[in-house]
Amino acid sequence: MITHLGILGYPGRLARAICEAAAQRGQLVTVLPRDPEGMMRALRCCESVIDASAPEGTLALAHVAAESKKPLIIATTGHSQGQLAQLKTFSHAIPILKSPNFALGAVVLQQLMTQACTLLEDGYELSLMEMHRQGKKDSPSGTALALAEQTDRPCPITSLRLADNPGEHTVYLAGHGERIQLTHVCYDRKAYAYGALRAAHWLTKQAPGWYSMEDFITSFSR
Ligand SMILES: NC(=O)c1ccc[n+]([C@@H]2O[C@H](COP(=O)([O-])OP(=O)(O)OC[C@H]3O[C@@H](n4cnc5c(N)ncnc54)[C@H](OP(=O)(O)O)[C@@H]3O)[C@@H](O)[C@H]2O)c1
Repeated sequence: MITHLGILGYPGRLARAICEAAAQRGQLVTVLPRDPEGMMRALRCCESVIDASAPEGTLALAHVAAESKKPLIIATTGHSQGQLAQLKTFSHAIPILKSPNFALGAVVLQQLMTQACTLLEDGYELSLMEMHRQGKKDSPSGTALALAEQTDRPCPITSLRLADNPGEHTVYLAGHGERIQLTHVCYDRKAYAYGALRAAHWLTKQAPGWYSMEDFITSFSR
């Protein structure tokens, strides 16, 4: 298990959840400052680093993580296509795992959706609903966009912002007088924290490259 992690984005909601989960597992966490020099110094003692900040923070951190040769977990969402392309260039130097949703159940939702879309094709309409806290910066959520992108069928997304909801996604397939709905509910951010910490440990053993939560989960069965 990793004994010392770096984190960017403290005292944000997700970063706090990750710090709490890491403390329970006996892992040390260093909160990284925003300035690149301070970040580089703070990263020296870390085995791996997690980004839970904002898109500009991810880019600054990826640069420093690549220089320092530290595996990078990206939990932040809302990157532009240009930012994503830049981030991918750093994966030539270090392993990077980027996921819009580190809850293990969300990966299962993704797989169930693929299966349902394969089985229910002609005459079934696909739609997605996501619910998050008030004030979330990106809309639709990164998870909803990733779910919609995995199919070439039209998939409208409805976004709701409500109180302090940590994240909820429902996939609907309706037609021929029936409807199936698959829902993943994150009711505590510790679900994200648990998945991110486990993925961070796995990532330290991987070669430089660009990884997803599916790559990590698939490794369970090997
Ligand atoms: N992948 C997942 O499983 C998952 C789960 C939950 C959330 N998320 C994503 O994680 C990100 C953070 O979510 P959150 O709910 O924790 O948001 P939050 O509560 O607003 O926290 C974001 C934190 O990042 C800091 N920050 C902003 N810009 C920064 C920068 N350039 N460099 C360093 N720190 C910076 C903020 O500081 P200030 O307040 O001072 O600006 C704040 O402390 C969002 O993109 C969210 O969508 C992902």
